Amino acid sequence: MMRILHVASEIYPLVKTGGLADVLGSLPPALVKRGLDVRILLPGLPGILNGMTGLKPVMRIGPVFGAATVNLLAGRLPDSGLEAYVIDAPFLYRRDGNPYVGPDGHDWSDNHRRFGLLGWVAAHLAAGELDENWMPEVVHAHDWHAGLAAVYIAQNPGLQTKTVFTIHNLAFRGIFPIESHLDLGLPTRKLTPRGIEFHGKLSFMKGGLIFSDKITTVSPTYAREICTPEFGCGLEGVLRDRSADLSGILNGVDYAVWNPDDPAIARRYSVDDLAGKSDCKRALQAQFGLSTEARGPLFAVVSRLTSQKGMDLLLAALPDLLRDGGQLAVLGTGEGDLEAGFRYAASSNPGSVAVYIGYDEELSHRFMAGADVLLVPSRFEPCGLTQLYALRYGTLPLVRRVGGLADTVVDVTPENLAADRATGFVFDDAARHALGARLTEVCAFYHDRDAWRQVQRRGMMQDFSWDGSAANYEALYRSL
Ligand code: ADP
Ligand code: GLC
Repeated sequence: MMRILHVASEIYPLVKTGGLADVLGSLPPALVKRGLDVRILLPGLPGILNGMTGLKPVMRIGPVFGAATVNLLAGRLPDSGLEAYVIDAPFLYRRDGNPYVGPDGHDWSDNHRRFGLLGWVAAHLAAGELDENWMPEVVHAHDWHAGLAAVYIAQNPGLQTKTVFTIHNLAFRGIFPIESHLDLGLPTRKLTPRGIEFHGKLSFMKGGLIFSDKITTVSPTYAREICTPEFGCGLEGVLRDRSADLSGILNGVDYAVWNPDDPAIARRYSVDDLAGKSDCKRALQAQFGLSTEARGPLFAVVSRLTSQKGMDLLLAALPDLLRDGGQLAVLGTGEGDLEAGFRYAASSNPGSVAVYIGYDEELSHRFMAGADVLLVPSRFEPCGLTQLYALRYGTLPLVRRVGGLADTVVDVTPENLAADRATGFVFDDAARHALGARLTEVCAFYHDRDAWRQVQRRGMMQDFSWDGSAANYEALYRSL
């Protein structure tokens, strides 16, 4: 059995700030189903320590990264029962709230140590120094938080371990002052533009890109986009140099968690009987004080409220959404000015716009089920998961043609409708008028009930389960 170690900072259902956690919650079990021997390495954040079962010490690690006590533990994850290693370093990880950001809204000042340690432990597990009973053949690191795993592995010339690095979001590059290398035990010869130096600083993301054997990202379109200056975040040159080793593997959906036979929603429904969906809509409207008499569709947002997600475009295009009787329900947290913008929109449009500023997993299911349309007008989107969830709930996604959104939603055009391929709505320009024009069209299309149902059904029957993606990852591991 091929032994794979996944390294990441969050995992559903224990610690989640976004889609990365969903991927870590479902890709490893899908690989296990294919017969691979998969374990996961996680930082000992409170949610992770509290949520695992049977945690036992594996190895006591001497003072490293400024933390006197570091214990490597192993136990089982809830639901999947998968074995995971947890780094218990109270000085670095036992902090409540967001894993990356302190209560003052700024990144924790010791993030280089907190996530450097994650990569360091991965490399030492690979070397067999921490658990002599289990050594991975492939270390699969996710996003900048785990980017140093490949750097430390490359530093040990005797190691045969192969490395895969997955970019979930290139915009977060893990940039720290160059002096941080002193805390991280990185040799100065790595601090060059051909190494992890990035414009006079160092970048964990770049470390992962340069030193891993293979690089993947979470959709084929994003894999192409990041080789261009528009999407490359200054790393497009590095990615172009490595294009032979770069590929896009689309994320999947855990349909056990995301499907309309859902205990969290007002009334369960299915592709064969959509009656419950209307109840879910009414329940959502009632919960948030939205009128049940509206002429137009109920649009929803379940998202980080950031400019990546195009939330400013949505605020600007709101008059177009409301003009023909559309309604908007927003669930999200993020940038202060966007939160304030949505709050203001809700107070100026009572009965038509409702906003819940916060993070609430259960509510996110009720939004998916209750809405007619899910809005994802992103400026860039590596994959995007919410549009995939929406499809399964018969909620038509309205997305920008970018990244994984372009790869997963088929636009309602006359040709696609005639061929019964259409699953949602797509617009091109990241501009208010482009989104606004599409919103107007969606409101008109809403009144063609037969066509709407056809698109709902086609969407609900899409299969974005993890099986296909897991097969692609397995093939990649085998190629190493
Ligand atoms: P990203 O990872 O860029 O934020 P994704 O679409 O990949 O975008 O994943 C977002 C995940 O976070 C989804 O599971 C979505 O349901 C969830 N999510 C985002 N905002 C909220 C929120 N305010 N409350 C609950 N879940 C949320
Ligand atoms: C990132 C991306 C999102 C992707 C998720 C999981 O957070 O922004 O598009 O779906 O990672 O890969």
